[in-house]
Amino acid sequence: MESNRTKLIELLSNYSDRYISGERLSEQLGISRSAIWKHMNELKKDGYQIEAVRNKGYRIIGFPDELSASSIQWGLSTKWLGKNLIHRKSIDSTQFLGHDLAREDAPHGTVIIADHQTKGRGRLKRSWHSEDKHGLWFTVILRPTSLEPKDATQLTLVAAVALVEAFRQLGLEVKIKWPNDVFSRRLKLTGILTEMQAEQDQIEYILLGIGMNINQDQDQFPEDLREKVTSLKIETGKSYDLTQVFHEVAQRLEEKYDTFIEEGFEPIKKEWEQHAYRLNEWLTIKTKETFQAKFVGIQHDGALLIEDELGRQTALYSAEIYW
Ligand code: BTN
Repeated sequence: MESNRTKLIELLSNYSDRYISGERLSEQLGISRSAIWKHMNELKKDGYQIEAVRNKGYRIIGFPDELSASSIQWGLSTKWLGKNLIHRKSIDSTQFLGHDLAREDAPHGTVIIADHQTKGRGRLKRSWHSEDKHGLWFTVILRPTSLEPKDATQLTLVAAVALVEAFRQLGLEVKIKWPNDVFSRRLKLTGILTEMQAEQDQIEYILLGIGMNINQDQDQFPEDLREKVTSLKIETGKSYDLTQVFHEVAQRLEEKYDTFIEEGFEPIKKEWEQHAYRLNEWLTIKTKETFQAKFVGIQHDGALLIEDELGRQTALYSAEIYW
């Protein structure tokens, strides 16, 4: 269930080029005019710029460019994800604090989110550019007690599917590039970094680190990245309220995670394949040698399934792929 605040922000955002009357807002949300007025004041306090014109109504003209734990939690309607939430203006990496807090018994669903990371980390020890206030940089601590360590990679795929759905809600169709990048056109929009702490057959915790490019213009990315990455704003031409985007993602992540724990990987695998970037296309792949193969899906452990011209399938765990 979305909160009234979230619905109100959504309505105002949809009307951002015209006014929406208090009467209409109260009809749509099923709450009184004075409740609308109270919400407006709260939104203004949180940095939303709202214009109110007599006989016309309200219009949103600017979103807060800073996150805060209280404004994120206020409209968050998840059951467990983000109920414990730590916000930092600046941090080395949300993953580092995530490890510290997870070791200190932070509960399942704890979120660490930052406006800016000085040592944002990507997969394969790459760095992750985390520009101040332009994107969402956060880590979720997960404690999937029923999951075996060998199946932990599936969680990354669960997160990728959740992100696709969140972007769809925000008005953009995206694809998942194996293993776990979210792509729009041929450009990277979001990255996922999963780190696990396990002992023998028991997962102690998993850190799901997500970096989403939201409000950057192209010239706000470092020059060497400009040809490779994109943001939600570049793709749709609109600016987004980071808090609202976080709510959307948190909701989808929680739903997909719960489905995965209750029903297993099969439904997620199907959805992942429906959204896969370049599925059923021939790709150039480099392992010991370079060859062409058709990308036909993923295996249960997240490995890439490819097929040769005789229909023989192979699972690939790591390879250089010329997407
Ligand atoms: C990748 O595509 O290589 C993964 C990028 C993951 C970036 C996120 S931002 C939040 C969290 N903190 C980090 O330092 N990294 C992840």
